Amino acid sequence: MKVNIIFSPNNVDDLYFTVKTTVVIDVLRATSVILKALNVGAKEVIPVGSIDFAMKISVNSHGGQTLLCGERNTKIIYGFDLGNSHKEYTEENVKGKSVILFTTNGSKAIVKAKYSDKVFIASFNNLSKMAEHLVSLNKDVEIIASGSSGIFCMEDTICAGALVKKMIENNSDIELTDASNASLILNDKFGSDIAEMMSNCEHGILLKENGFESDIEFCSTVDNIPIIPNFTGGEIKLLAEENHSSKEN
Ligand code: MLT
Repeated sequence: MKVNIIFSPNNVDDLYFTVKTTVVIDVLRATSVILKALNVGAKEVIPVGSIDFAMKISVNSHGGQTLLCGERNTKIIYGFDLGNSHKEYTEENVKGKSVILFTTNGSKAIVKAKYSDKVFIASFNNLSKMAEHLVSLNKDVEIIASGSSGIFCMEDTICAGALVKKMIENNSDIELTDASNASLILNDKFGSDIAEMMSNCEHGILLKENGFESDIEFCSTVDNIPIIPNFTGGEIKLLAEENHSSKEN
């Protein structure tokens, strides 16, 4: 099986993903938050590519049990129920509800992958579980590092490198592209202290400036949410075969 990494969703168009197995990573913070929301019992997460669309579908879909969530410039959007910090996604707030999520990079990257055969959501929080699952599928994999406003970012690329490393631990026969090789090298250099790396990357610095320092700690925790979120039919849910018991993280 071959594993490739796309350093920004802007590097390819939507049809690139047709029939592929795709993993989307936006460590700071969208994919980490999606894991948290599902793990505490959100019914589903609906990623959207615009605020207008988020508002439109929140009015008349999903049985009234919807929450409008997300961020612009890291902060909650005016009129929305929740922002994009894992702390807001408690069992009390989200259990049984449909979370409509708009974020600057992550939700858009997920929507972009919609023509894939399979789309999974990953972060450091579910690294080993995701690697095991991908290896068990034995299909070529495209990993999207969501990046920042269309350009490369360190934290998503290093998380992608860490995922590839775990996959190789499970199957030494994995074929690498130049991009997945480069991500592995970056992970070898900076992946030993993930929290430190994230504190010093551009988006980590912005999050600290905006008062979200503790989000970096949560987003740098490895394997604390061993679940597999699966995006199909416009909704992200736990993969059907998973045995899930919700818990706080
Ligand atoms: C994004 O999608 O760009 C992020 O999740 C931004 C953030 O909330 O930190």
